[in-house]
Amino acid sequence: MKEEVIGVCIGEATPGEASFISRTVSRSGEYVTLDFDGRLILGMVEGLVRGSPSISGDILDPDVVEQILKFEGEGGQYIKGKVRLLGDVESLEIPKTPPPPGTKIMRADPSVLQRIFSGGTIRLGRLLSHPEVVVSVDANKMVSRHLAILAITGAGKSNTVSVIVEELIKLNGMPILFDMHSEYGEAGFSKVKRIKPRLNPIYLSFPEFKILVDVGKDAYIQERLLRKAFKAAKENIKGGGNFIPRILDELEAIAGSAEQMTGSEKNAIAGVINKVEDFENRYEGLVDPHAPHILSEFEQGAANVVDLGAVDEDYADVIVSHVLRKTLHMRRSGEMPPVFCIIEEAHILAPAKRQTHSKYWIDRIAREGRKFGVGLCLVSQRPKSLDQNSLSQANNTIIMRLVEPSDQRHVQQASERLSDDLLGQLNALNTGEAVVVGMMTRIPALVKIDRFKGKLRGSDPDITALWAERAAEKQRQHKQKKKEVKDLYEGMI
Ligand SMILES: Nc1ncnc2c1ncn2[C@@H]1O[C@H](COP(=O)(O)OP(=O)(O)OP(=O)(O)O)[C@@H](O)[C@H]1O
Ligand SMILES: [Mg+2]
Repeated sequence: MKEEVIGVCIGEATPGEASFISRTVSRSGEYVTLDFDGRLILGMVEGLVRGSPSISGDILDPDVVEQILKFEGEGGQYIKGKVRLLGDVESLEIPKTPPPPGTKIMRADPSVLQRIFSGGTIRLGRLLSHPEVVVSVDANKMVSRHLAILAITGAGKSNTVSVIVEELIKLNGMPILFDMHSEYGEAGFSKVKRIKPRLNPIYLSFPEFKILVDVGKDAYIQERLLRKAFKAAKENIKGGGNFIPRILDELEAIAGSAEQMTGSEKNAIAGVINKVEDFENRYEGLVDPHAPHILSEFEQGAANVVDLGAVDEDYADVIVSHVLRKTLHMRRSGEMPPVFCIIEEAHILAPAKRQTHSKYWIDRIAREGRKFGVGLCLVSQRPKSLDQNSLSQANNTIIMRLVEPSDQRHVQQASERLSDDLLGQLNALNTGEAVVVGMMTRIPALVKIDRFKGKLRGSDPDITALWAERAAEKQRQHKQKKKEVKDLYEGMI
């Protein structure tokens, strides 16, 4: 193994951390090895500080400032830093003893890193510090221990999702993508199943239906009336009948017996009839008694893309919660293969400060999914608005550029594996670069995620080109019209 010494241990150390001093500039996140007590231990460089022993004194003293301005390296400079000890290069076991002072810090050999990162089943990309090292992660741990993908807009979340989904297809997996922006259907996965977000009311629960009809949680009378009509209509579909007309008939019949009702009951029934009619207009073609069960449409070995781009938040909430509820149920009874449910815009469906139906099921799957092979992937550009409970159940995290300190703190609270130093790197990441931590990777890594080979929509549009194109088209139409008028006029004389 080629030995390149970049520093030596100084001062006090623990089995998990050592300080070092060096003359060479290394970079935070770089892997190093330390040879002591007969074992080669892998570590990660953190918290670098650079200084010079020849400059000392009060930095507000003009003489010292003069000295700093003239500093050209005479008297030397030093780099101080910390090494987080990640474990033995073979077993990744944390050493039992701390490294003694004077232990050499060596740049890690890429072959050592390659051995560590090649054991996974899902290829994510390459190490930022060693582009020759391919990084793969463990699919089993990713699915069973859930994943969060967090970053500001445009940092590369959808690209990462696409890379993972394509890898899952290769593994004959069952990724289900809740596609909030209609970007994945045409993305170019090697196998894709596009699923219309249709729901058959026969499979809907009353609480799901109630959200769609928009009956508030305190509207007790409306809820009671609607529940009765919903039950009757469900029975009606079983006999081959229709759904909404049956609900309206039922409600009209109740309205017909108005003499026995109080004023507020009469108002409530009129209100609920209006709401059901609005529901019918709003979700025409989506709530369909002839639609197949949405879960029966999912396919193993394909990207199952549920297109939610054209539906409102309430409908997305119902679809997602419905699929999660049924999936958990069917996995319990072993009726379907393990799945990986990817939820884009997770802060809308599982918000920190509001209760939604999806949030309940996301939280339940986050807690119980592991036992039944139901994996969750929460994707969000606003982590601080995302439910902390669900987020902290994600034992794997891929974080790309994230600038807001409050977002960073929220993420760190949810993931004990994210050290202050890794957190500090998030500001400086470029598009497609990520901090990868959690059970799916043997050690934390800074990774350049592969670029997805398909044609994912969502790259920044060339706005000025679009303006120019529209203006040219308008001008062309204007000229054409002028010519038509001229021809018409000339034809008349
Ligand atoms: N790993 C990568 N390598 C190269 N280019 C990338 C990579 N990741 C992202 N990009 C580029 O950045 C653009 C934006 O990425 P992407 O759509 O994945 O961002 P996003 O985080 O999902 O944004 P949004 O929050 O708006 O959904 C992509 O179209 C692509 O051109
Ligand atoms: Mg995206």
